[in-house]
Amino acid sequence: MTVPRIDLVDDYSVPRHIVGLWQLSGGHQTSATSAEAALRAMEAYFEAGYDTFDCADIYTGVEDLLGQFRDRLGSRAARLQVHTKYVPDRGALAQLDRSAVEAAIDRSLRRLQCERLDLVQFAWWDYETPGYVDVVGWLGEIRETGKIRHIGTTNFDVERLDQMATIAVPMVAHQVQYSILDRRPTHGLTAFLDETESAMVCYGSLAGGLLSDRWLDVPEPDGPLANRSLTKYRLIVEEIGGWHALQNLLRVLREIADGHHSEVAHIASAWVLDQPRVAAAIIGMRNAKHLTGARQAFSVALTKGDKRRILDWQESHPGPAGDTFGLERDPEGPHSAIMWTDLNSEPSKPAQ
Ligand SMILES: NC(=O)c1ccc[n+]([C@@H]2O[C@H](COP(=O)([O-])OP(=O)(O)OC[C@H]3O[C@@H](n4cnc5c(N)ncnc54)[C@H](OP(=O)(O)O)[C@@H]3O)[C@@H](O)[C@H]2O)c1
Repeated sequence: MTVPRIDLVDDYSVPRHIVGLWQLSGGHQTSATSAEAALRAMEAYFEAGYDTFDCADIYTGVEDLLGQFRDRLGSRAARLQVHTKYVPDRGALAQLDRSAVEAAIDRSLRRLQCERLDLVQFAWWDYETPGYVDVVGWLGEIRETGKIRHIGTTNFDVERLDQMATIAVPMVAHQVQYSILDRRPTHGLTAFLDETESAMVCYGSLAGGLLSDRWLDVPEPDGPLANRSLTKYRLIVEEIGGWHALQNLLRVLREIADGHHSEVAHIASAWVLDQPRVAAAIIGMRNAKHLTGARQAFSVALTKGDKRRILDWQESHPGPAGDTFGLERDPEGPHSAIMWTDLNSEPSKPAQ
C-alpha cells in the first residue's frame, strides 16, 4: 500500500503521516540515537514514501540534521518537504521586529541548506505579550520574497486565530495536539477551521507511544520516563483519570485492533485521521523500528461499532477541558512546568 496523501492547498500535498523529529533533538531522550543512525532511519522513511518531515527551530540540532539529510539525498532532495516552526523565545517576544523574524527564518534556511521553507508553523508562548498578529504580517511579507512557501501556526487558540485571520495572510495548516485522550480541538478549533476552510496537522496522536501495544498491561511507571514526549503525555494521562483509565482504553483498542489484525498504535492514528479537518498525524520517530508495517495503519477503516466503543470510553473520560494548549499556558500547572521556552538563546547542542 502506498502512503496516502492529502492536499493542504491546491499545489501542496502531504502524506497523511508526517515524520516528527522532536524525538531526535538534543536532550530529548535518555538513550540517544546517533546522527548516523538517525540519517539512515530518515532515509528509510523517505524512500518508503514519507517525504515530509516536521521539525522546529527549537528542536536542538534537528534543522542541522535535516540539512545534512538534504545533502545526503542529492538530487532526490527535490522530493523532500520540510515543515519547520518559528518559535521565538518567551524572553524575546516583547522585542521582536521584522528584522528579528527574518533573521530567524534565514537561520532555518541556512541550517536546512535550502532556499525556501515548505511550511513555517508559528508559535507564541505568551498571549499577554502583544505582537503575534504583527509577526504573521511579517511572515507574510517574507513569504513574498520567496523564502517561505506556506505559513501555518502551532498551539494557538481560536480567539487568537480569529485575530490573526483579520490580516490577509493565508494559513495552510494549524498544528495541535489531538488524540483519543485529548480532544480539545473539538472545543472550537474544528468549527473555526470549517469556517476558514483550513486544516489541522496533529501531534500526540500516539501520546508519545503510550497509545501502543508496548504499554498494554504494563504497571504504572514510578520513576522518570525515557524521553520528554512520554513525560508530556503522562500528564495528559492524568487528565483522563490516570494509569488505570489508560489501561482500560488500551484494552478496548486492543480488542478493536484484533478485529482488523492490526496494532493499537494503528487504531489510535486511524481515529485521529478520521476526525473532521484533520489532514495528517505527525508521528514521532526515534529510529526505523516502527517503519515495517507502518503503512498498515492506512488500511484500518474503523467501523461504526469501533467508533462507538471509543466514544463510550471517551464519554466516561472526557479528558482535558478548554481550548488547544490552554492547560500548557497555565503558569501554575504541571504542563507548563515541564516546558523549555527559551531554547533559541541556549548554546546549540548536536542532535542526538
Ligand atoms: N507543536 C508542538 O508543540 C509539538 C509538540 C509535540 C510534538 N510535536 C511534533 O509531533 C511529533 C510527534 O511527537 P509526539 O511527541 O507527539 O509523539 P507521538 O507521535 O505521539 O509518539 C511517538 C512515539 O510513538 C512510538 N511509535 C511510533 N510509531 C509507532 C508504531 N507504529 N507502533 C508503536 N509505537 C510507535 C515511538 O516510540 P518508541 O520509539 O519509544 O517506540 C515514537 O517515538 C514530534 O516529533 C514533533 O514533530 C509538536
